Amino acid sequence: MTKILVTGANGQLGQSIRSIYSEYNNLDIIFTDVEELDICNLEQLKEYTKSANIEYLINCAAYTAVDKAEHEQVVAKRLNADAVKNIGIAATQNNFKVIHISTDYVFDGKTFKPYTESSLAVPESFYGQTKLLGEKYLMETHPDSIIIRTSWLYSEFGNNFVRTMIKLGMEKDELRIVADQVGSPTYAVDLGNAILTIITKVQKGSKTFTPGIYHYSNEGVCSWYDFTIRIHEAIGITCKISPIESKDYPTAAPRPFYSVLNKGKIKTNYKLNIPYWGASLEKCLKIIKANRQAAN
Ligand SMILES: NC(=O)c1ccc[n+]([C@@H]2O[C@H](COP(=O)([O-])OP(=O)(O)OC[C@H]3O[C@@H](n4cnc5c(N)ncnc54)[C@H](OP(=O)(O)O)[C@@H]3O)[C@@H](O)[C@H]2O)c1
Repeated sequence: MTKILVTGANGQLGQSIRSIYSEYNNLDIIFTDVEELDICNLEQLKEYTKSANIEYLINCAAYTAVDKAEHEQVVAKRLNADAVKNIGIAATQNNFKVIHISTDYVFDGKTFKPYTESSLAVPESFYGQTKLLGEKYLMETHPDSIIIRTSWLYSEFGNNFVRTMIKLGMEKDELRIVADQVGSPTYAVDLGNAILTIITKVQKGSKTFTPGIYHYSNEGVCSWYDFTIRIHEAIGITCKISPIESKDYPTAAPRPFYSVLNKGKIKTNYKLNIPYWGASLEKCLKIIKANRQAAN
C-alpha cells in the first residue's frame, strides 16, 4: 500500500479524489482539510506528515476565488504561495513526494497556440501571480515534486461554473455569456483519476516519478458560451443564451483570452488516456441530475 495525504480535501478536487479512491485498492489515503491540517502552519505540517509517515502529499488546498484575490492579496498569497513553500519544506524534512495543482491562469492568454510547460508564464491576475509563485517556491524547496496545471475545473461537488450555469439557467430567462475566451474544461474526477493513475504506475514500476511541471485538462476546446450551451442542452434548460465579449462582462481579475494547455508531456510520460470534455461533461451532468432527483 502506498500512503498518501490529501490536503484541502473538502474542495472540489479533494472530494472528487475521495469519490474514486476506493477503485484503487493499492492506495491508503488520508483526507484532511483546514480543520485537521492547516497548510499555512509549518510546524503542524511537519509534525503531521512525520507521524503519518506518508509517501505522497497531494495538495488540493488553494485560494480559488479569482476575483476576490485582487482585494484579499495577503490571504491569497499566504495560501497559494507561502503555504506551498511550507509543504516543500515539510516534504524535504520528512522525505515524501508532492503532487501540487496549479492553473492555466499563470498564462496571459495572448498567444493563440496551446501552452506547453516551457511557455513563458506571465499571469495577469493576482490569483495567477500567487499560483506561479507557489510553483516557484515548491520547486525551490522540494524539487522532487510534480506540479499539474489544469484549467476550468468543474465537478458535481462545490461551487463551479457548471453548477452555477444550471442554477442561473433555471432562475433566469436569458443569460449573457462570454464567447471570446477559449479554454478546455476539466472534470475534476478525470484529474483525480490521472493523479492516482500516475502514483499507481510509479508504485508498480511501469513509470518513474519524474518531477516537474505538467499540463492536464480534458481534450478539446470551447468558449464559456459553448460550454454553457452544452450544459443547458444536456439538462434540458431552455433559457436563452446570448454570446457577449469580455469587455461587456468586466471582472476584478483579468482572464486570459486563450488558455488552452498542451498536454503532450503528461500523455507521453504517463501514457494517460484523456477524455474529451463533452463526454466528461455528460458523465458529470448525469450525476448532478441523479443527485437532484434523489434530493426531491
Ligand atoms: N476551480 C478551478 O476552476 C480551477 C482551475 C484551474 C486550477 N485550479 C486549481 O485546482 C486546485 C483545486 O481547486 P478546487 O476548485 O478543488 O479548489 P476549492 O474547491 O476551492 O478547494 C480548496 C480547499 O482548500 C481548503 N483550504 C483553505 N485553506 C486551507 C488551509 N489553510 N489548509 C488546508 N486546506 C485549506 C478549502 O477550505 P475552505 O473552503 O473552507 O476555504 C477548500 O476545501 C487548486 O490548486 C486550484 O488553484 C482550479
